[in-house]
Amino acid sequence: MIKNKNKLLSLYIHWPYCESKCPYCDFNSHVKEAFDSKQWIKSYTNQLLEMNEQLLNHNVNFNNLNAIFFGGGTPSLMPLEIIDSILRTASNLFGFAENVEISLEANPSSYEKERFKSLEELGINRISIGVQSLNDENLKFLGRRHNSLDAQLAVEHAIKTFNNVSVDLIYAFYGQKLLHWTNELEVFLKNNDLQHLSLYQLTIEKGTRFYTDFKKGLLNVIDSDNAADFYEKSNEILNAHNFLKYEVSNYAKKGFDCKHNKNYWKSENWIGIGPGAYGRLWSSKRNIKRIEYQNYKNPKTWLSRNINRSEFESINFFSDTTSDIDTLTMGLRLYEGIETFKLFDKSIIERSAFRELQNKKMLKVINGMLKVEENYMIKLDSIIDFLINP
Ligand SMILES: C[S@@+](CC[C@H](N)C(=O)[O-])C[C@H]1O[C@@H](n2cnc3c(N)ncnc32)[C@H](O)[C@@H]1O
Ligand code: SF4
Repeated sequence: MIKNKNKLLSLYIHWPYCESKCPYCDFNSHVKEAFDSKQWIKSYTNQLLEMNEQLLNHNVNFNNLNAIFFGGGTPSLMPLEIIDSILRTASNLFGFAENVEISLEANPSSYEKERFKSLEELGINRISIGVQSLNDENLKFLGRRHNSLDAQLAVEHAIKTFNNVSVDLIYAFYGQKLLHWTNELEVFLKNNDLQHLSLYQLTIEKGTRFYTDFKKGLLNVIDSDNAADFYEKSNEILNAHNFLKYEVSNYAKKGFDCKHNKNYWKSENWIGIGPGAYGRLWSSKRNIKRIEYQNYKNPKTWLSRNINRSEFESINFFSDTTSDIDTLTMGLRLYEGIETFKLFDKSIIERSAFRELQNKKMLKVINGMLKVEENYMIKLDSIIDFLINP
């Protein structure tokens, strides 16, 4: 068994529906279709009951839930009775830590904005708003249904309703001017007192409309030097506004790192329920260590397989090597790095690939933490790839 007693446990709930499908998005999200809330409540409840059994059977060490995250899709469109039911069942089964963080992703439409108060009354205490861009032309390019004014009004309303507000933005796409971006970001941060910001450089994902356009030569991407300039300048601005970067794309004011996301970057325990959601637990049963629970991806399949009793698409038992690769891939995303004691096979940090990266001052081990040197975070994906497949 891994040396530390993993005591953190979080819960991820996937809601797969959206008003429309954005051209860049490869998340498990589908255009809204008719559904029966009662059936969804039954399936989510069955999954929670099954996970409670799994936690007991595998003797998983945890105190109670320290974080809950409603992700999607667009969970701000979820019927309130489903959210309420999930929170009540989860609280009865696992208990909530005193300062449990309960996050929900929201799109900035006026309909969703009007629901913020009801969400807060149900117990949501952190909202993450998908603003995506700060100007109308780029919002159109990204295929969003809202404009910059809708976004600003939603953010202002969120700040009035919640003590912990995060915003997602996509940047560094072809044709975007660095100066325009930095000006927009400056003004946005000056006008809105946010606790957290996720800044994602646009990636072209297989299976999306942008991917098809890219393959046809209808869409370009910016080169890596340009992308690095965008990253560096954004870091400077956020730093000046008292945001600490704690993950390659995530920034928070002191004390506002996203608890659920940190649980999985730090390879703690989490339960994942809903279509396509996956969870991972540390078992303290003899010979079993890391277990992964994978749900059916298609919403209708997931619903039909969970409505009577919970059924996962697969349950995987990780070997020590798979577990280490997983721990490294997730943990190196964090600026603080990952605890080396979480690795089973310490030889991974004795390997020549590791030494080479260390000699080039790209990686270091300090006070038991393995981390990528700050100025090489922009090359994180290739560093991890080199480390894992030397
Ligand atoms: C599950 S999605 C967000 C949920 C919500 N429906 C929304 O659109 O705001 C999480 C975030 O991932 C980011 N994202 C999704 N696809 C991306 C891509 N191809 N490139 C960069 N960021 C992406 C977006 O910023 C998005 O807000
Ligand atoms: S970006 Fe958000 S709204 Fe757009 S399709 Fe993906 S999950 Fe849905």
